[in-house]
Amino acid sequence: MSVIRTVVAGVGSYLPSRVVTNEDLSKVVDTTDEWIVERTGIHSRHIAADGELTSHLALAAARNAIADAGIDAQEIDTIILATTTPDNTFPATAVTVQAELGLYHGAAFDIQAVCSGFVYAMTIADTFIRTGQSKTVLVIGAETFSRLLDWTDRTTCVLFGDGAGAAIVKGEQGAGTNADRGILTAHLHSDGRYKDKLYVDGGPSSTQSTGHVRMEGREVFRHAVVNIAEAISESLAATGLTADDIDWFVPHQANKRILDGTAKRIGLPPEKVVMTVGEHGNTSAASVPLALDTAIKDGRIKSGDLVLLEAMGGGFTWGSLLLRF
Ligand code: UT7
Repeated sequence: MSVIRTVVAGVGSYLPSRVVTNEDLSKVVDTTDEWIVERTGIHSRHIAADGELTSHLALAAARNAIADAGIDAQEIDTIILATTTPDNTFPATAVTVQAELGLYHGAAFDIQAVCSGFVYAMTIADTFIRTGQSKTVLVIGAETFSRLLDWTDRTTCVLFGDGAGAAIVKGEQGAGTNADRGILTAHLHSDGRYKDKLYVDGGPSSTQSTGHVRMEGREVFRHAVVNIAEAISESLAATGLTADDIDWFVPHQANKRILDGTAKRIGLPPEKVVMTVGEHGNTSAASVPLALDTAIKDGRIKSGDLVLLEAMGGGFTWGSLLLRF
C-alpha cells in the first residue's frame, strides 16, 4: 500500500557562544559542580547574550537545516516553531523567522508544549504532510529558557540552558511498511492535573509579567520515567517493532539519571542513547533537535537507521515518535 511518509531531509542547530560551567554557577548560588554532575549529569550550558532572542537562535538553526537539506528556502510552505520563550507574547516567533527567511507565503505559527514541544511540532508537521496541507515544513525547537530562570533558586537555575534545533521535513511516497524512510508513528499525551508540578509563576493573563520557572523536581522525575517508558511502548506496539530494532534513542535531555532509567526500563543499551545533557543542560523544546543534529552530524545516525524520539515536560505533556532517518 502506497502512503505518504514525512521524511527528515535536513537538520541544523545553533548554540549561543557563551558557556556557563557548574563552577561559574557555584559563585552565584549555593551549589557545587559535584552535586550538579551527580544529580543531573550536567557540566555546562550555553546562555544567550543580552539582546540575543529566541528568533535569532531559531533562525540560525533553521538556516543550518535548510543548507543541510540542500533546498531553496522558498520551498518551505509551513513553519512550526516550538517554544516556551517567544520573543514577545505575540506575534508568534515563527513569523519573525518566516520574514527573516524572506518567505511571504504559506503559514507560520508557534506551539507551546514546553519540553515536549519538538515532538509535538514534528507530529503536527507529519499530520499536515500526510493530509496534504503542507509539502515542506520547517520544524524548530528554540528557547532562551535562561530568561525564565530565578537565578537565586538553586533547585532550577542549574538545570537549564539556551539553544535551538531545526529539521526540514518533506512528504515522500512510502510502501506503508516499517522499512519506509520517515515518521512511522507518533504518540502525544498531556495530563493537566499535574500543571503545578512544573510551571512558570507568571503570564500575560495572570500577572501581566513573564514569571519564573517553579518545579517539584522529585515529582517530575518520578512521572518522567514512567510516562516516557509508556509512550515508547505505544510507539513500539503501533509498529510491531521492538527495542532491539531501535538504532538510536534521542530523548529529551533533562537529566542523565532519567535517560539512564528510561533506557534500562525499555531494554536499550547505553551506547544507543544520544546524550547531550552534559554540555547543553535542559534546553526545553530545543533539546531533542539539538541532540538529533549532534548525532547526525557526528556520523552516528545514518540513513536508514531507526530513531526513537521522546520528550516529557510541563503540563505534564509527553510523547514519543519513531522515524527511519
Ligand atoms: O524538562 C522537564 C522535565 N524536568 C525534569 O525532568 C526534571 C526532573 N527532576 C530532576 O531532574 C531532579 O529531581 C532534580 C535534578 C531537579 C533534583 O534532583 P533530586 O535528586 O530529585 O534532588 P532533590 O530535589 O530531592 O534534592 C535533594 C537535596 C535537597 O536538600 P535536602 O532537602 O535533602 O537537604 C535540595 O535542597 O539537594 C538540594 N539541592 C541542591 N544542592 C546543591 C537542590 N538543588 C541543589 C543544587 N545544589 N543546585
